[in-house]
Amino acid sequence: MEERLQKILSHAGVASRRKAEELILSGRVTVDGEAVQELGVKLDPMAHTIAVDGKPLSGAEEHRTFLFNKPRGCVSTVSDDRGRRTVLDFFRDIPLRLYPVGRLDADTEGLLLLTNDGVLTQGLLHPRFEVDKTYLAKVTGDMTEAKLRYLADGVLLEDGRTAPARARILEKSPKGATVELTIHEGRNRQVRRMLAAVGCKVTQLERIRFGGLTLAGVARGSYRELTAQELTSLWRIAGGQECRSL
Ligand code: URA
Repeated sequence: MEERLQKILSHAGVASRRKAEELILSGRVTVDGEAVQELGVKLDPMAHTIAVDGKPLSGAEEHRTFLFNKPRGCVSTVSDDRGRRTVLDFFRDIPLRLYPVGRLDADTEGLLLLTNDGVLTQGLLHPRFEVDKTYLAKVTGDMTEAKLRYLADGVLLEDGRTAPARARILEKSPKGATVELTIHEGRNRQVRRMLAAVGCKVTQLERIRFGGLTLAGVARGSYRELTAQELTSLWRIAGGQECRSL
């Protein structure tokens, strides 16, 4: 059956659909030895040899998903032109093409999923499925109940108003506060920008929950593989069958 090249790549676990498009546009994907740099190409994966960086797709690679407790200071891209440590440096003993499900800033720590399942990634990141992510932010500045309500109702940022969120103060001191914020969007530096919009500067940021998953039992810099039960509930959160046709 013919399918779009980017869909074939993401189903093979090479990358998310968007990343696969970037791979194609940058000329890293070949079909029967010829580079294909257009996004519209449809073909039957059984009838052609498709390769990324010269490496043929290895048929159906087993999909595996890991929960990682990211430390501060490493980037959640697969490579870094400034030579910083990446999250993949922690997965050297896993012989799979893993990539992170979304991103955390270099100076954010906490829960990050890594997988080689492009379809699951797509579902978890798609705005339609509104997957909850919970952050603990240590802030300086005066955090008040009125500001919490503003955060919860939607803050006006330069890229538009944020969707309704849940916010509560866990601790308050004369210098600042610890705030728990649950959002389902995934805009760039969203938590820092939301808190800046109410006059608070984030000094420490940790993601403590993603969907129903928490960091329980996973030390900073360590990971564990998700159980079959956890994967089943992630698939449900990520739209189930619906996310396969995105
Ligand atoms: N919001 C941020 O500001 N940073 C992150 O890393 C994640 C969410």
